[in-house]
Amino acid sequence: MMAAAQTPPPVLLSSACERNKEPILAVLRDWLPNKALVLEIGSGSGQHAIFFCQQIAGLCWQASERPEVVADLRSQLVAVPGASLAPGSRLLEPIELDVTCCDHWPRPSEGNRVDALFSANTCHIMPASALPQLLAGAARLLRPGGLLLLYGPFQDGGVHTATSNAAFDAHLRSLDPAMGVRDAKELQEQACSLGLEPLADVAMPANNRILVLGRRR
Ligand SMILES: C[S@@+](CC[C@H](N)C(=O)[O-])C[C@H]1O[C@@H](n2cnc3c(N)ncnc32)[C@H](O)[C@@H]1O
Repeated sequence: MMAAAQTPPPVLLSSACERNKEPILAVLRDWLPNKALVLEIGSGSGQHAIFFCQQIAGLCWQASERPEVVADLRSQLVAVPGASLAPGSRLLEPIELDVTCCDHWPRPSEGNRVDALFSANTCHIMPASALPQLLAGAARLLRPGGLLLLYGPFQDGGVHTATSNAAFDAHLRSLDPAMGVRDAKELQEQACSLGLEPLADVAMPANNRILVLGRRR
């Protein structure tokens, strides 16, 4: 477990995280096994990691970020006192992980296989070419029957499910043509070819979803 440091409490950086953490928590409670080792991809501010470990007992959460920003994540998590976490829950030292380094994903600092991979609002930020790498990496790291949970906005068969998502997609592409709201059906088809199977598609507030995929046994 990370030691509590003599530093100020973490600054909460993402208002989106504050809005979506409770609805996501409810889905994690439904799907995660007791005593789960979870790897989070693109942990950002660390708010999800902290909140879920404060709310769910027996969770071992491995946050991660791209090498260029992992120090910011580490400084957020190091300020969280272990005593504030739920019984038996632990926040591991964050690791560097860029999903496009497909052959060199580091293992979590504990355990070779994880029970679940979680990632929020990353699919539309990373290029579309990174999605098969994310899925393949998940299939390598998940134990058989383990879960991949992807939170965010998604299209269906090239059609946006809400005008707000279409506007968000246009905004992302204007910032960087490599970003954009991804297609759930395309992602699920890619996942099937990589050893994962779609298990659920959970509607979330503000036209977001959680796609749940399971590693084949
Ligand atoms: C919009 S932020 C979401 C952060 C956090 N998960 C949240 O929900 O607030 C997108 C995140 O994706 C991460 N990301 C982008 N490309 C990535 C890649 N190739 N590998 C891992 N993470 C990546 C970014 O570093 C960033 O933290």
